[in-house]
Amino acid sequence: MRSCIINLWIVVALFVPVLLSLRSRRGETQIQTTPSSSSAASFSDSSSFSVKLANTFQFNQRIRDGSNLEYDFYKDTCPQAEGIVRSALTRIYFDHRDVAPALLRLFFHDCFIQGCDASLLLDENDGNSNSSVEKQAVPNQTLRGFDKIDLIKEEVEQACPGVVSCADIVSLAARDSVLLAGGPFYPVLTGRRDNHQSFFEEATAQIPRPDDNVTRTLHLFNLRGFNARETVSLLGGHNIGKIGCDFILQRLYNFQDTRQPDPSIPPDFLRQMRLNCPNNSNTNTNKDEFMTSKPMSSDVQSKSGMSYMQALSTSVSSGSTFDTHYYQSLLRGRGLLFADQQLMAEDKTAKLVSAYASDDGSTFRMDFARVMLKMSNLDVLTGLQGQVRLNCSRPVTS
Ligand SMILES: *[C@@H]1O[C@H](CO)[C@@H](O)[C@H](O)[C@H]1NC(C)=O
Ligand SMILES: *[C@@H]1O[C@H](CO)[C@@H](O)[C@H](O)[C@H]1NC(C)=O
Ligand SMILES: *[C@@H]1O[C@H](CO)[C@@H](O)[C@H](O)[C@H]1NC(C)=O
Ligand SMILES: *[C@@H]1O[C@H](CO)[C@@H](O)[C@H](O)[C@H]1NC(C)=O
Ligand SMILES: *[C@@H]1O[C@H](CO)[C@@H](O)[C@H](O)[C@H]1NC(C)=O
Repeated sequence: MRSCIINLWIVVALFVPVLLSLRSRRGETQIQTTPSSSSAASFSDSSSFSVKLANTFQFNQRIRDGSNLEYDFYKDTCPQAEGIVRSALTRIYFDHRDVAPALLRLFFHDCFIQGCDASLLLDENDGNSNSSVEKQAVPNQTLRGFDKIDLIKEEVEQACPGVVSCADIVSLAARDSVLLAGGPFYPVLTGRRDNHQSFFEEATAQIPRPDDNVTRTLHLFNLRGFNARETVSLLGGHNIGKIGCDFILQRLYNFQDTRQPDPSIPPDFLRQMRLNCPNNSNTNTNKDEFMTSKPMSSDVQSKSGMSYMQALSTSVSSGSTFDTHYYQSLLRGRGLLFADQQLMAEDKTAKLVSAYASDDGSTFRMDFARVMLKMSNLDVLTGLQGQVRLNCSRPVTS
C-alpha cells in the first residue's frame, strides 16, 4: 500500500515535468530536480557541480533525441503491448530473478552506444556477417537476456505482428525489471524504431569500464549528456545483481599490474572478496564492461561473483534491495568494482554518494527513475527512421 502511494506520487512528480521537458528540447538539460525530501538540502550544493572535461573524445555526430517519442505510442496500433511485456517479464522473473539486472544492463549497453535502437540485439549487420556487431564487442560472454527479449518479442508479435519495435521492448522490459526488483516506477515513452546496423567500434571504445577512474567514468557519461549526479545515481543500478568475478579479480590479485591487491581495499573486505572470487589464473579478464552483473541463475558462471548486498554484509540490515546499500558500501570502502569505489575519490562524487547514503533511499530512487527515463530517450530513432524488426536478432531486409 505504502509503495503504491509512493509510486503514484513518483508518476505524478516525474511525469508532468518530464513530458513538458521532452516537448521542449533534449530531455536531459530540462529535467529539473524536484526538491523531494529533507535530503534535498544536502544536494543543493553538489547538484550545481558541472563536469568540466575536454570533449576530446570522438564520437558519433548523428544526434537524435527523444522528443518524438510519445506516451502510449501503441494505444491505437497495439494497446496491449505494454501489458504483454509486463506479464511476460513477470512470469520470467519468478523463475529467473537475475533477469532483472540482466535486462537493466542490456538496456544500458544498447542505449549507451548510438542510442536506444536495439542495435545491440543484432546478430549481424545487414546480412553482412563479416562486419562486427555490438553483441560480439562490448560485453562478450557476459551480457545475458537476449533470449528473454526474444521470448517477449514473440508474444508481442503474436498479438500485433510487425508493430512494436525491439527498442521499445528493451526499454519497457528494463523499466519493468527495475520495478520487479523493488525499484521505482517511471513512465517510458514509446515509438522507438530499430536500427538496421550495429556499432562494433563505438561499442568497444565508449562503454565505461570497471577499472576506469572517476575522471574517465564521468567523462564518458558526460559525452552522453549525463552530469555527475546523474552518473552517480545511474551507477546505483549495481544495487541489484551480481558483479562477476572477472571484473573484480584484477583488483584482488594484480591491481594495475602490481601483482598486489588494490591497496584501498580494507583487509577484511579483501578477505571476503577473495573468498568469493578465488585466484584463478585461467580467468581471462575482459575489461570492456560496465554495469557488470552476472546473468541468469541457470548459468554456471553466475556462481562466481558478488553482490552489493554481500559487500555490505551484516553491517546494515535492509528490507529492500533497491535502496541505498550501494552507496553505504562505497562510504565504507566496500565497493566491488574499482570504478564504483572511485566515486569516493573525488570530492564532487563523494558528496553525492554521502548524500544518497544518508536518507531513506527516496532521493536515490527518485533520481534513478529520472535518469533511467533520460537514458531511455537517448538518441532514439523515430518516425520513418530505422525499422521495426520482426526478429530482434535480424534486420528486416527490403
Ligand atoms: C569478408 O572479409 C574477407 C576477409 O577480410 C573478405 O575477403 C571478404 O570479401 C569479405 N566478405 C564480405 C561479404 O564483405
Ligand atoms: C567474443 O567472444 C567470442 C567467443 O568467446 C570470441 O570468439 C570473439 O572473438 C570475442 N570477440 C571479441 C571482440 O572479443
Ligand atoms: C584516469 O584514466 C585516464 C585514462 O583511462 C588517464 O589518462 C588519467 O590520467 C587518469 N586520471 C587519474 C587522476 O588517474
Ligand atoms: C594468483 O595466481 C597466480 C598464478 O597462479 C600466482 O602467480 C599468484 O601468486 C597468485 N596470487 C595470489 C595472491 O595468490
Ligand atoms: C531470429 O534470428 C536468429 C538469427 O538469425 C535465428 O537464430 C532465430 O531462430 C530467429 N528467431 C525466430 C523466432 O525466428
